[in-house]
Order: sequence, then C-alpha cells, then structure tokens
Amino acid sequence: MAWLQIVLGGLVIIVSISSLFRFYSAGFFLHNEDICKHFYAVIPEKNKEVHEGFDIKALSDQVGEVLNKMESLQEKLELAVQQMEKNKEQLEKTNITRLEHKKYLEQEVIRPLYYAHIALRQIRLPKPEGLRNSTMKEDPLINTFVTEEIRKYITPKENRVGKINVYGTERIFNTIGHSCVLYKKELEQYMDYDIGSYCNDDWNLAQKLMVNGCDPLPRRRCLTRASKVYQKPYPINESLWKIPDDRNVRWSNYHCRNFKCLSSTNPKRGYSKCTGCFEMEKEKLKWVTNSSLPIDFLINDVLAIKHGEIRIGLDFGVGTGSFAARMREKNVTIITAALNLGAPFNEMIALRGLVPLYVTLNQRLPFFDNTMDLIHTAGFLDGWIDLLLMDFMLFDWDRILRPGGLLWIDRFFCNRKDLDDFMYMFLQFRYKKHKWAISPKSKDEVYLSALLEKPPRAI
Ligand SMILES: *[C@@H]1O[C@H](CO)[C@@H](O)[C@H](O)[C@H]1NC(C)=O
Ligand SMILES: *[C@@H]1O[C@H](CO)[C@@H](O)[C@H](O)[C@H]1NC(C)=O
Ligand SMILES: *[C@@H]1O[C@H](CO)[C@@H](O)[C@H](O)[C@H]1NC(C)=O
Ligand SMILES: *[C@@H]1O[C@H](CO)[C@@H](O)[C@H](O)[C@H]1NC(C)=O
Ligand SMILES: *[C@@H]1O[C@H](CO)[C@@H](O)[C@H](O)[C@H]1NC(C)=O
Repeated sequence: MAWLQIVLGGLVIIVSISSLFRFYSAGFFLHNEDICKHFYAVIPEKNKEVHEGFDIKALSDQVGEVLNKMESLQEKLELAVQQMEKNKEQLEKTNITRLEHKKYLEQEVIRPLYYAHIALRQIRLPKPEGLRNSTMKEDPLINTFVTEEIRKYITPKENRVGKINVYGTERIFNTIGHSCVLYKKELEQYMDYDIGSYCNDDWNLAQKLMVNGCDPLPRRRCLTRASKVYQKPYPINESLWKIPDDRNVRWSNYHCRNFKCLSSTNPKRGYSKCTGCFEMEKEKLKWVTNSSLPIDFLINDVLAIKHGEIRIGLDFGVGTGSFAARMREKNVTIITAALNLGAPFNEMIALRGLVPLYVTLNQRLPFFDNTMDLIHTAGFLDGWIDLLLMDFMLFDWDRILRPGGLLWIDRFFCNRKDLDDFMYMFLQFRYKKHKWAISPKSKDEVYLSALLEKPPRAI
C-alpha cells in the first residue's frame, strides 16, 4: 500500500510540473512581449520592461533538468513495483524489515525528490516589484548554472541600503566570460569546493577555461595550494638571471618536475613555444648581442631613439621575462604577459623578481588609454592568428600606447604569401617607422621586425 502511495504521489508531482512546463514552452512560439504576457498575465502592463532580457532558454533548460530527474525517479519506482509484482509469492513469504524499508525510502525516494525540489527552488523568476531602481531585475545568466557558488558569484551585489559606492553605482556586478555557458560542466567542476577549505590543485582546469573564453573566471572562496617547501626568493641582485629554486613551484600539473627538465634538449619537456627560455645562457644573449639577422634589434639602439623617455611598458608574448629583466637593468619597468602553456612561465617570471600578468588574448588589456611608453611583442603573434582578432588587438595596443610610445614587433613570422596582409595591419596606424626588417625564416616563411612610433593625435 505504501508503495502505491509513493508512486501516486510521484505521479502527481510529475503531472503538475509537466503542465507547468507546457505553460512555459507555449511561450516559445510567441514574440518576446507575448512571452512576458504569458508568464505574467497578472502583472500590470507598466511593469513589462522588468522581464526583458530574461533568459527563457536557461529557465526552460532548468525546468527540463528537473523534469528529467522526476521522470527517472518515476521509472525507477515503477520498475521496483513491477519487480515486486513478479516475485509476489516470494514477497509474501519474506518480510522486508522496517530498516530496509526506511533505507529504501531515504535513498531511492526522499533524496531524489529533495534534489528535484532544490532544483525547482533554484529557478529564479524576475521579481515583479524589482530591486530598487534597476530595469534589469535578474541577471539572465543565473538560471544557466546550478552550482550555488556560481549563482552567488554572478548575482549583482547591491550596496548596503541607501548607499552609493565609490564608483557611484548602486550595485557591483561580478563578471564571467560569456563562453562559461558553453563550458558549464567544467565551470561547475571548478566551482565545486567547500567554502574556506583547500581548493583542488586545478590551475590547469582554470587555464583551460580561460583560454576557451570563460574569461574572466569567477573568483573562488577556497584556499589555493602552495608548495610545502617554499623557500624565500633570491635577492633581486641575483634573481634576475638565475634559475629559481625548484621547490618554489608546484610541479604536479606539469610534465617536468624541476627547471632542469624544461631544457630545450629534453624532448619530453611538455611545452613547445619559447623552447630555450628556461636556459639562462641563451636568454642572456637576447637583445644585447649582435645577431647575424637584421630582424634582431638591440635594446640599447631602441632606447637611444627615445633617450630617457621609455620608463614603463608591456611585453606581450611567450617568455620567461628576460626582456623585462634586461629592461629593468636600464631602469625600465616592463610587465610581462604570460600563460602557463605547459611550463611554469608565470612562476618563473615572478621568481626572477619581475611582474607577470596572467592574461589571455580574449580581453581588453587592463591599462588605461595613452599610458604605456613601450609595447614589445615576440614569439606569440604569428601566422596562425585570425586577422580580425589581430586587428582588435592592435587597436587595443594603440589605445594604451602614449603618443610618442614605441611598438616593437620582434620576430613576427608568417607565411610569405600572407606578409602583405600583416604588413597592412601594422602600417594602417601610420606610425613613424624607425626600423623595419624582413628576413627569410624557411622556404615559405618570413620574419618581420619593426619599431614603430605612435604619432601625436590632434583630436
Ligand atoms: C513476517 O512477519 C510476520 C509478523 O511480523 C511473522 O508472523 C511472519 O512469520 C514473518 N514471515 C517471514 C517469512 O519472516
Ligand atoms: C529611484 O527612482 C526615483 C524616481 O524615479 C528617484 O526619485 C530616486 O531617487 C531613485 N533612487 C535611487 C536610489 O536612485
Ligand atoms: C646582493 O646583495 C646583497 C646585499 O644587498 C649582497 O650581500 C650580495 O653579495 C649581493 N649578491 C651579488 C651576487 O652581488
Ligand atoms: C653590433 O654591431 C655594430 C656594427 O656592426 C657595432 O657598432 C656594435 O658595437 C655591435 N654591438 C655589440 C653589442 O656587439
Ligand atoms: C638606474 O638607476 C640607478 C639609480 O637611480 C642608477 O644608479 C643607474 O645608473 C641607472 N641605470 C641606468 C642604466 O640608467
């Protein structure tokens, strides 16, 4: 009898949710406005704008997920009853103990019902009364995610009542990259932790999310792991050109387990860009010794063009900070953009006493307009890059370079036949050409280096 009641109860819930769903899905064939009317037939017309921008798809996905949960619960219960029916005689002979009964109820009925209930509760509907003076009452992204920590993160944080914050706004939006929606599963895994406890050792999952466009990533409220045997770094008069202590890196997510293993002679070093970058003898030669190729400019020659004027800049490429180290010796402060593509590039730069900037290509650079004296780029932008992407990036670089600032394109390379396209990209800004050199790289590829100066702009 008890079974029958449970099954009937389940059915009632399912039927009621299905009809709810039908009510929602009916909206799909109507225009936006009509959907709102369907949803909120009771809400007066003047509040209509409240629901614009509300993500119906995310909502229906959520409802769909709950429905699936209910459906599988129903199937499971029905199957159990069928089994009992089959073994009727046995059933009459053997009593199931009360303990077994309780366990079954807890595990197979109450728990799935509970999760379905929570999932339903989590669905956010716009509040008719709204939040203070905002026109957008709910962030449409919120329904996309089930993990509570992600939902908390992306919920706009209202200032405490009656206050305007330092930015002069009423609330703070924590942002995440829009492709986080595409990597929902990975993001939910990333955000699955106990608040205040240790995070998983998963920087590589985080970086995978970032390079795939889930960037910015949400912040986390767990403690990041660190090397157990972290040593104090070398003093700055030694650290610039010294391979750091192996103990200061957590190696568990790299192929290598120490810096020596990252040598270009090791085929199993685990990374392919900037292969000699972890060998200081090689790094020490860059930008200070004459090479046989005209595309290699010397730091002294570049700085001489703007004597004393180059003080701060950005190095955008793949490297371990040797450019910034050399420039530091010239009293120029360089920030080095780096990702950990198979090797501890960020750790290395920081341990040398230089500033690593952990950014991907996805984002507008976090510098204000007309602020940088120099942008140096090497080993990164080359023939693979989409021209439109490159165009957006070059305009962003132009934005942050100050008038009279230098753009140093260092050993850009591409297919010979694409050279004209790229040359056009670099020349479109009408910068003053201080240096310009092209050398063959291989049969089909060429190198291009250029030193260009952003002109003053009258408007
Ligand atoms: C089932 O339980 C009843 C009452 O608790 C008892 O009389 C009967 O012997 C039990 N049957 C079996 C097969 O254990
Ligand atoms: C909200 O809007 C009302 C009228 O539109 C205005 O008087 C009030 O100052 C606004 N409140 C805030 C906090 O901006
Ligand atoms: C670095 O500086 C410290 C004191 O500031 C000094 O004791 C040490 O010898 C220096 N190291 C080198 C390699 O010059
Ligand atoms: C590089 O070569 C130029 C001319 O060929 C010479 O004047 C300069 O001193 C050399 N610089 C270095 C660092 O060897
Ligand atoms: C850098 O600055 C220090 C201290 O101001 C000075 O002693 C040194 O000569 C400068 N180096 C260069 C290359 O300008």
